[in-house]
Amino acid sequence: MPDSRIEEVLDQIPTPCYVCEEHLLRRNLEILDEVQKRSGAKIILALKGFAMWSTFGLVKRYLHGATASGLWEAKLAFEELGKEVHTYSPAFKDDEFELIAKMSDHIVFNSLNQLRTFKKTALKHGCSIGIRVNPQTSAAPVDLYNPCAPFSRLGVTRENFVWDQDLEGLHFHALCEESAQSLQKVLQGFEERFGEFIPKCRWVNFGGGHHITKEGYDRELLIDLIKDFKARYGVEVYLEPGEAVGWQTGPLVASVVDIVHNGIDIAILDTSAEAHMPDVLAMPYRPQVRGANEPGKKPYTYRLGGNSCLAGDVIGDYSFDKPLQIGQKIIFEDMIHYTFVKNTTFNGIRLPSLALLKEDGRLEIVRRFDYCDYKHRLS
Ligand SMILES: Cc1ncc(COP(=O)(O)O)c(C=O)c1O
Repeated sequence: MPDSRIEEVLDQIPTPCYVCEEHLLRRNLEILDEVQKRSGAKIILALKGFAMWSTFGLVKRYLHGATASGLWEAKLAFEELGKEVHTYSPAFKDDEFELIAKMSDHIVFNSLNQLRTFKKTALKHGCSIGIRVNPQTSAAPVDLYNPCAPFSRLGVTRENFVWDQDLEGLHFHALCEESAQSLQKVLQGFEERFGEFIPKCRWVNFGGGHHITKEGYDRELLIDLIKDFKARYGVEVYLEPGEAVGWQTGPLVASVVDIVHNGIDIAILDTSAEAHMPDVLAMPYRPQVRGANEPGKKPYTYRLGGNSCLAGDVIGDYSFDKPLQIGQKIIFEDMIHYTFVKNTTFNGIRLPSLALLKEDGRLEIVRRFDYCDYKHRLS
């Protein structure tokens, strides 16, 4: 990974462990900040993708706040980030809503029914109210991550939409790891369907899924799209990326625990695709392993397997220059977003520690997990 400094502290890393490299996170934040400054949009962090709150001191120097998907994320944003809190949930519950409203600046409802049920409470607490709409246009790669797929429950479609006088904003989220060109298409769909309501808004939230910090992303187009939108409608524009914040900010470091043979060489690691890198199985995708290549490209090929009992807990096949050794560390690249926010203690497997590689070169283990974390989720 370009500019990673992990090798300098590899000996100190207890495995398994996610290590967020502060200088890489800062680089992403600087890119996002430049987009904010040049476009006039406000960018907030989607906690669902990246919620390592030990970094929030840094994050809040650049971003305007965070977007939460319910009570606990709102509370985390309120307590640890302390800037704007926007909360959207597919369905708010009675017994949680008042507390959410107290902590939130923006509340985004997913349906007109929820809007009617909760808007009084939201207004009482001074929230700015919005509604999520479904622009019915998306280039998301798989249905699992496509909020505009047929029969989606996320956002109101145009045929079901009526304006409410208490609304101040519209929200759409239709992208997943996508380009500014994809946003351009989604904006077209959004404006075609909901254009008549935009002038009534104070703000429009373009959701997440913008791969802004990825090399090759057309940031000039993004800035132009936002500036043009703001000029035409006179509204505040929000973006709420998660992945773009955590993108390529550090690895998951694991160790080889055993090597077995069954037709191929198989290295069993102290991590798990199922429990610690769920998108490997869900997307599916193949994480990059530092120093490794496609199977057969280098002399020694291994299947890297997880330490759960799930037969399919396999990360993939990789080739290496030298035979793997028991105890050797394996570096899975780009493992800071959508990983530890989703982890489970399936099979009683230890959750990977969380560490920060500080800009001054110090490795700080910010969280270790133990048996209690497993036991207390059960009874
Ligand atoms: C409503 C909403 N906003 C923002 C995001 C963040 O998306 P990403 O991490 O892809 O930028 C998501 C992701 O699912 C989302 O559902």
